[in-house]
Amino acid sequence: MKVTSIDKKLEDVKADALAVILFEGEKLEGEIARLDKKVDGAVSEALRLKEFKGKLYDTTSIFTHRKISSIRILLIGGGKKKDFSSRIARNLAGTAVRRAKKIGVKTLAFHLYRPDTTEEIIEGAKLGDFDPGIYKSKKTEGLKELVIVGLLDKEILKHSTVVADAINKVRKMQVEPANIMTPREMANEAERIGRKYGFKVEVIDEKEAEKRGMGAFIGVAKGSEEPSFMVSMSYTVNKKASILAVVGKGITFDSGGISIKPSAKMHDMKMDMSGAASCLGFMYVVGELKPKVNVVAVMPLTENLPGGKALKPGDILKSMSGKTIEVLNTDAEGRVVLADGLAYAGKFNPDFIVDLATLTGAVDVALGGEATAILGRSQKFIDKVISAGEKAGERLWQFPIYTEHKDLLRSDIADLSNIPPSRSAGVIAAAVFLQEFVKESVDWAHLDIASTAWVESEKPYLAKGPTGVGVRTLVKFVENLEKES
Ligand code: BES
Ligand code: ZN
Ligand code: ZN
Repeated sequence: MKVTSIDKKLEDVKADALAVILFEGEKLEGEIARLDKKVDGAVSEALRLKEFKGKLYDTTSIFTHRKISSIRILLIGGGKKKDFSSRIARNLAGTAVRRAKKIGVKTLAFHLYRPDTTEEIIEGAKLGDFDPGIYKSKKTEGLKELVIVGLLDKEILKHSTVVADAINKVRKMQVEPANIMTPREMANEAERIGRKYGFKVEVIDEKEAEKRGMGAFIGVAKGSEEPSFMVSMSYTVNKKASILAVVGKGITFDSGGISIKPSAKMHDMKMDMSGAASCLGFMYVVGELKPKVNVVAVMPLTENLPGGKALKPGDILKSMSGKTIEVLNTDAEGRVVLADGLAYAGKFNPDFIVDLATLTGAVDVALGGEATAILGRSQKFIDKVISAGEKAGERLWQFPIYTEHKDLLRSDIADLSNIPPSRSAGVIAAAVFLQEFVKESVDWAHLDIASTAWVESEKPYLAKGPTGVGVRTLVKFVENLEKES
């Protein structure tokens, strides 16, 4: 999808459809009122007949019979005007694109209701255009061109294109099945990105990981025949600038291991590498936009399978940090591989660590798909990540870690166990575990993306399936850091 712009009156824009946002209960005014007159009141008629009320993400298409240059006007419901936000702007663009594609539109013009949301509109449109049906022989045709009606800043166009393309790359990795998106394939992608942008990439295989004492990672890796890798990528812009480490859970398939999962929805567990995929997407943005902050990405990449050498409940692992882990449930493997991922990230002396992981089913019980759980320390840092998420249109909701929560992971024979004795506080217990592998002096945020990395049913603005969550929050966080320094 090509993005262009045109600075013309709405009625003079030539397109298959011209999308305009209308809010609930608002009178037509300004440019839209004039447009309505040009089409003999067809827009106001749709409102009067209550076929279209401006409800959030509702759409109606009106033929213009060539009274204006566009063939159709696509009315997009903006909801209550007072609730308008950058998140909604992004979603409205996605809604327009998805509706346009359904009715065979090739060129979609989009009226820029608020010029300060250009970035969101371009991102939303590109995200809405993504089709997860990558293995269908007959491809549904995408939109050819999005024409922004208004002034388009070149910098903004580049920025939003880079970010949206990165997210769509992440989403493609997420939909790829586990027989394609293997640990090796993800490591290859890290190397490709590294070569393109001149990052230092280290691909540690199982033998080397063993040598380096990554016993937690190896413990999980042993259950699978696919070669596993601990990968790091580093972008150094300036030795004096601060260092952000991102750590992504990269389980390319989570069967649960010996504590095997029920078969009903097991296929969904090909997306258990979403955290690592978002790290790769973020590094692609870093390579393109070259922020003035140093960035390291660490990704433990492996499957979690019940092979002959697989972990057994009760096994003890010695992690790279030296701490011993009693694996009471092999399905809580994410935290186990992240134990070494976080310790390894610590070796790069980061000022901040953000980990992204599809870690618990419990986060879905708590928040559903509407927010990612965030936990960590210091509070000042967590607040910064939350506000970056807000700007990025990715909701983050904080859970506490109280000192008493440490009791959840007491083990009789090792330093800690990988699951609590009951199902209570599942999201927190996972974070308590991870916390043990992050130095206290480092600001750390854990993002549990298990319920936000994948949408169970399609949205007006987004296809069902992968979301690439996390990339935008990281980008905004880095940009805010740049502004601070
Ligand atoms: N990968 C899963 C978590 C998950 C669930 C991700 C649903 C995406 C959607 C994780 O490895 C897991 O199995 N967690 C267990 C932990 C439990 C054994 C303490 C869970 O949440 O059931
Ligand atoms: Zn699991
Ligand atoms: Zn998992």
